[in-house]
Amino acid sequence: MKVTLKDKVVVVTGAGGGIGSAICEGVAKEGARIALCGGNNLEKLNASADIIREYGVDPYVLPGDLANMDFLTTCIDKIAQHFGRIDILINNAGIAHNAPFEETKMEDFDRIMNINVKVPFVLCQKVLPYLRESNHATIINIASVVAHKGYVNQAIYTASKHALHGFTKSLANEVYAENIRVHTVCPGGVFTDMVKVTRPDLTGEDMIMPEEIADIVLFLLTRRGNAVIDDICVRRAAKNPFDV
Ligand SMILES: NC(=O)c1ccc[n+]([C@@H]2O[C@H](COP(=O)([O-])OP(=O)(O)OC[C@H]3O[C@@H](n4cnc5c(N)ncnc54)[C@H](OP(=O)(O)O)[C@@H]3O)[C@@H](O)[C@H]2O)c1
Repeated sequence: MKVTLKDKVVVVTGAGGGIGSAICEGVAKEGARIALCGGNNLEKLNASADIIREYGVDPYVLPGDLANMDFLTTCIDKIAQHFGRIDILINNAGIAHNAPFEETKMEDFDRIMNINVKVPFVLCQKVLPYLRESNHATIINIASVVAHKGYVNQAIYTASKHALHGFTKSLANEVYAENIRVHTVCPGGVFTDMVKVTRPDLTGEDMIMPEEIADIVLFLLTRRGNAVIDDICVRRAAKNPFDV
């Protein structure tokens, strides 16, 4: 049974990026109120906000570097103060890294693990008190197929997405009894700026479009029946079934 997102407050990180922008548009169409949480590229963040406004929704735009501890630890409270509540958190912000295992520097290790694991971990902790007040409490963490697989030259990105998927599984079980739903979505190659780093071999043809990931996120958000989906792996319709 489909339920409405009307007036639900949705927090989206990485809202100026390819998948984040598509998710914002998807939830705006459903009448949700949206906080665009974090982002260093103001042009992209404002472009996403403009798309949301076309649906009659006034977004709360909160630019900032999620790697900055002050910003990270205060952004959820600021959003809750602005809207009076938070119902849904979508941890979508992420960064990729392409390098042979032996050439991956410790700075890269720390940077990737920070944004892809620590940031969503902290935001989940910060948002739970607000979700406990909601009848639509949901967290969706955007991982990757490399939460399940291992590609060459992506050791640190792969480790980070395994870690994200790992803590999400624990969290989902810890808060299940409180009617807080927690999911991971694990996309294969999506046609965004990031794929130029993660999959330089892909050119656009046969790739997943960001709107297709947004549709899956919307499916998860608008179904709250007895069938609980834990995580979703999304493969490309590639000619070789092992190529995602
Ligand atoms: N594209 C794919 O093939 C693919 C496949 C599987 C999973 N994913 C995952 O999907 C998510 C979205 O990726 P995308 O493909 O849409 O890439 P994208 O267009 O590069 O978007 C990434 C977003 O993350 C934000 N971000 C990164 N570091 C940040 C920081 N320190 N503070 C605040 N925001 C930060 C970026 O904002 P700024 O640029 O403004 O900093 C950007 O909005 C990521 O978690 C990625 O790992 C992507």
